[in-house]
Amino acid sequence: MEFNTKSGSPEKQRTACVVVGVYEPRRLTAAAKVIDTASGGALSEILRRGDMDGRLASTLLLQRLPQVQAERVLLVGLGKAREWREKHYREAIRATVKTLEATGATDAAVFLTEERVPHHDPAWCVEQAVVVTGETLYRFDRLKSQREDAPRRPLRRLTLMVSGRDALQAGEQAVARGRAIVEGMRLAMDLGNLPGNVCTPTYLAQTAQDLAKEHGLAVEVLDRAQIEKLNMGSFLSVAKGSEEPPKFIVLQYKGGAKKDRPVVLVGKGITFDSGGISLKPGADMDEMKYDMSGAAAVLGAIKAAALLRLPLNVVGLIPACENLPSGRANKPGDIVTSMSGQTIEILNTDAEGRLILCDALTYAERFEPQAVVDIATLTGACVIALGHVATGVMANNDALARELIQAGEAAWDRCWQLPLWDDYQEQLKSNFADMANIGGRPAGTITAACFLARFTKKYDWAHLDIAGTAWKSGKDKGSTGRPVPLLTHFLVGRAARRG
Ligand code: BES
Ligand code: MN
Ligand code: ZN
Repeated sequence: MEFNTKSGSPEKQRTACVVVGVYEPRRLTAAAKVIDTASGGALSEILRRGDMDGRLASTLLLQRLPQVQAERVLLVGLGKAREWREKHYREAIRATVKTLEATGATDAAVFLTEERVPHHDPAWCVEQAVVVTGETLYRFDRLKSQREDAPRRPLRRLTLMVSGRDALQAGEQAVARGRAIVEGMRLAMDLGNLPGNVCTPTYLAQTAQDLAKEHGLAVEVLDRAQIEKLNMGSFLSVAKGSEEPPKFIVLQYKGGAKKDRPVVLVGKGITFDSGGISLKPGADMDEMKYDMSGAAAVLGAIKAAALLRLPLNVVGLIPACENLPSGRANKPGDIVTSMSGQTIEILNTDAEGRLILCDALTYAERFEPQAVVDIATLTGACVIALGHVATGVMANNDALARELIQAGEAAWDRCWQLPLWDDYQEQLKSNFADMANIGGRPAGTITAACFLARFTKKYDWAHLDIAGTAWKSGKDKGSTGRPVPLLTHFLVGRAARRG
């Protein structure tokens, strides 16, 4: 799929389809009015007859309008103009792409990008159009013996229209950002959607190595013996319940100067979480194949950074293993020693994410990072608190939390801050070790972050709990590719602030 930006008049576009919006009730956008005038009122007449009232995401395809160069005109409902905002814009783009896919048009000029969304610049609309198109066209069918519903004449090129030539340069940059984000999301979605018997720790490591080769990154994959040497006793305690060998992945994108301190991204890479001896209930347990979505997002964001050639150093750290019950698995009450030297009483083997992340966070110290962000499907409590809309963010530095919140707004991949106050630390007290790995039912998302905070004292750190946002359940079950957009914007921002 190709994208480009252009400025120009809708009736003059030589393309298979021109896409213009209609607000509710029956109000033509500026671009639609131009088509209407050129065609001698063809659109007004359609509105009058009641074939298009502007309801959000409704569509009407017209053929061969007089005095219009394009073969087709697609009208897309935008809802009420007063309610026009991000969600509506994204839905209108999604409807556009779906409708175009069902037509014979292989290219189109989209004027919806000219409808300014409050609080955002025109470049935002362009980037979002690219990202939403990527999401809409994404299919995961590589494990089906027969491909489904592949259109015979697929969409090949979208031209995203911006008003005014001065918007073109920002538009082109937005296209580049959007494409990089889509590539990163696709990688993350593929990894998330792959089942646990395919996407093993070894598979994640191989993916990191392939990515390194493709983009000239430095990569190191540590095996069990090397992980033992590092004294990652907490990580290894989770890994030892499984026959699948654990991997510790270190992937480095070096786009900055040698002396530039890197941003370190740490991703939870549990390729299947059964809960271990504290076994999860059977219903929907298949969804725990997504428990490596943090790792997938780290790989996706680094891919995006490499595609954008950001002038920044980024390190990705991924502890990867399975959490399974067995004769060698962690048991409730077991006490392990983390790489930091702190001891942990494992009261619930299902709180395994923090056990693998804490050692990776200690390992992060050696990079003298400018900031560390970990990304993890860490707690079911986060799904209860924020649902599937916002990622949870907690940080030991408020400016870093704010930066991530802003990156989330810019990427429309939002996160919401929860307090990381010391008061919650009490819930992690253990009678037998330095800390317990669970803090009881109240504020489960925060106490999980409090646990991690004990390993991140030496640098600025934020934690993203993506348990609710990395995938969707139900009939459209699947990975969302989040928070690759947020992370990409965060890295773009860090790259810009260098020097
Ligand atoms: N991977 C899960 C978190 C999770 C649960 C993500 C549901 C998405 C949906 C994590 O390892 C886990 O099991 N957490 C426990 C922690 C508890 C034992 C303190 C949880 O949230 O139940
Ligand atoms: Mn678990
Ligand atoms: Zn888990």
